[in-house]
Amino acid sequence: AKHKVGYLIGSLAKGSINRKLAKALVKLAPPELEMTEIPFKDLPLYSYDYDADFPPVALEFKKAIASVQAVLFVTPEYNRSIPGGLKNAIDWASRPYGKNSFARKPTAVIGTSPGAIATAVAQQSLRSVLSFCNAPQMNSPEAYIQFTPGLITDDGEVTVESTETFLRNYMDEFHMFIARVLQVLPPDA
Ligand code: FNR
Repeated sequence: AKHKVGYLIGSLAKGSINRKLAKALVKLAPPELEMTEIPFKDLPLYSYDYDADFPPVALEFKKAIASVQAVLFVTPEYNRSIPGGLKNAIDWASRPYGKNSFARKPTAVIGTSPGAIATAVAQQSLRSVLSFCNAPQMNSPEAYIQFTPGLITDDGEVTVESTETFLRNYMDEFHMFIARVLQVLPPDA
């Protein structure tokens, strides 16, 4: 069966290396995964004052998450955590109370940084946020991608074969994880 996967790119930068990584993952995903980006850059800063009346942009964002069976987070590490824009988007998705878009939604996290720590700390931080949001997470494989110059081209071609194999396997594992979660937790359960 086909599974729709929405992906959130934690960076808003034009030259984002995490966007390049996301492009690579889309190319390397098995054919059963239908990948679409869920953008969030136009969301205002969340406050619960919006809960009674979400603006159209936020309703659309929540609808986009509802329309996919799984979510992939491709994020940089900013100051040893996830970028504020991504946290804001997750806060929007989690509300209003009782309408948490991530509840029971299978997720995976991955990211790239030029640094040797390769987003490991940000991913741990994101994992605790997703845990609170009741999102099942793929525990393994983990993927901490150190972005060496030219590792992934602007069109998402991975230039190092071992990295390409690793990322393809990561997406195969994500596919199997989604299938397992959906078997136990069908969306209408
Ligand atoms: C960074 N960078 C960074 N890198 C890292 O490995 N750990 C970190 O904590 C930080 N902190 C940080 C804070 C801020 C505000 C910026 C702008 C950058 C460097 C970062 O990995 C690098 O800029 C990447 O290019 C970010 O990924 P995107 O946005 O290009 O996808």
